[in-house]
Amino acid sequence: CGGISHAYVIFGATGNLAATKLLPALYQLHCMGQMAEDVEILGCGRTPYTRDSWQEEVRKQFVEAGMAESPCLASFIQRLDYLSGSLKDAGFYQALGKWISNDGECANNVIFYLSVSPDLYVEVTEGLAAANLLDETHGWRRMVIEKPFGHNLESARALQHSLSDHLKEEQIYRIDHYVGKEAVQNLLVLRFANLILEPLWNRHHIDHIQITHAETLGVEGRANYYDKSGGAVRDMIQSHLLQVMALLAMEPPVSLQSESLRDEKVKVLQSIRPVDLEQLATHAIRGQYAAGEISGQAVPGYLQEEGVAPGSHTESYAAMKLYIDNWRWKGVPFYLRTGKRLKERRSMVAVRFRRPPMQLFHGSGISQPHPNWLLIGIQPEDAVRMEVSAKVPGLEMRTRQIVMDASVGHPGERKAEAYEELLLDVIKGDRSLFLRYDEVKAAWNVVDPVMQRWGEDEQLPLQYPAGGWGPKAAEKIFEGSDRAWRHSLSCNGDE
Ligand code: BG6
Repeated sequence: CGGISHAYVIFGATGNLAATKLLPALYQLHCMGQMAEDVEILGCGRTPYTRDSWQEEVRKQFVEAGMAESPCLASFIQRLDYLSGSLKDAGFYQALGKWISNDGECANNVIFYLSVSPDLYVEVTEGLAAANLLDETHGWRRMVIEKPFGHNLESARALQHSLSDHLKEEQIYRIDHYVGKEAVQNLLVLRFANLILEPLWNRHHIDHIQITHAETLGVEGRANYYDKSGGAVRDMIQSHLLQVMALLAMEPPVSLQSESLRDEKVKVLQSIRPVDLEQLATHAIRGQYAAGEISGQAVPGYLQEEGVAPGSHTESYAAMKLYIDNWRWKGVPFYLRTGKRLKERRSMVAVRFRRPPMQLFHGSGISQPHPNWLLIGIQPEDAVRMEVSAKVPGLEMRTRQIVMDASVGHPGERKAEAYEELLLDVIKGDRSLFLRYDEVKAAWNVVDPVMQRWGEDEQLPLQYPAGGWGPKAAEKIFEGSDRAWRHSLSCNGDE
């Protein structure tokens, strides 16, 4: 019929996300034989590339990123086409309609991927709708929307309202790439494909849970987005870390069908107790990196980064203490923290169990028994570690902590990148790993009051030197001296 039958249309195709994540993920799917023959990829952007010059540009980017020239790369490049124009121009959407050949003859299924600034989401949707490109009479139309979905509760509501004028909920894929990470999906398997954790997975046995996402990177040329629309809470906690928390805390879903899974996650998010604003300094802490060193290299402070507004209050570090007021978790604190320019790149979950009720091993030189820890590495390594006490060899009855350690992958196994799985799910129409609007709303509900309160504060966020573990005051989030942040998966090894 002359038109396309499946297309991935990427708005913002010349941007950073497309270059570093989307196109490499589509390439991997292509090389793994996961992408049907007839899928075409259309890049859209303002840069005036032609089909040929964009193909050449992507090929160059891939080779510069270390990918070898190969028949697979060559055939992937052949899938690419390009349409230049302004997203604000009705003529652009007409041209797009022509490219799709929306003439009623072809079954054309199209994914529109919004890898553009969030303030363009509504404009693009309206442009597509006005050109009749969201109509599903001749094939499905799906829209992938990057986070942040709104910049607070109110704007998320307004965005949802505008989108739902033109799209059914089944057409909207709110992507959170963190949920696509192997190690994050493994949380479901660890919890629900095994029996040993479940009896312990509650307030009777768990003392607290820490969720950490630490980065050594700074704003990396994204100050335009990060300084205005981001900050650690909006950029990481509202989306990624609350999703991890929901997966850790939710009840077993009835099935892995998208609605069952999302029903359970939303219940957790809705049960999170509002953060205590009267005690904010010990419940939510924000910081901003000052100049320092990362791996021996001097790096500038946040306020000196190009594109950051002078005197900006945007936080590059945030830690929050949250409680889930439900039967399973009442009273168990969840400590979430994330920061840029920290000492190491590390994302992990640390589950601390309660201490045994008494210390039998008096000879061990410790005043109280060690608690057990379950440590789950998300990145750089996927690992599951359990710290338990064991006898030190020798005549004395002394104990020390040892680690039961498992890397999740086997040697030679390739780890799928988060975007590979998610981009394939959109083609398959599987929405389980995408966020439903009520989840997004519940997550804004948690962080909004804190951000509002910080917005009224005239003080700069606490400064911390790049290359450390964030502001010292972040330790104040713990009550008493018995709890502290876990920075690594290594065993403390104390005897
Ligand atoms: C993105 C944030 O969603 O997640 C970035 O916008 C952050 O600021 C990134 O660096 C972290 O995810 P990953 O997968 O790169 O560790």
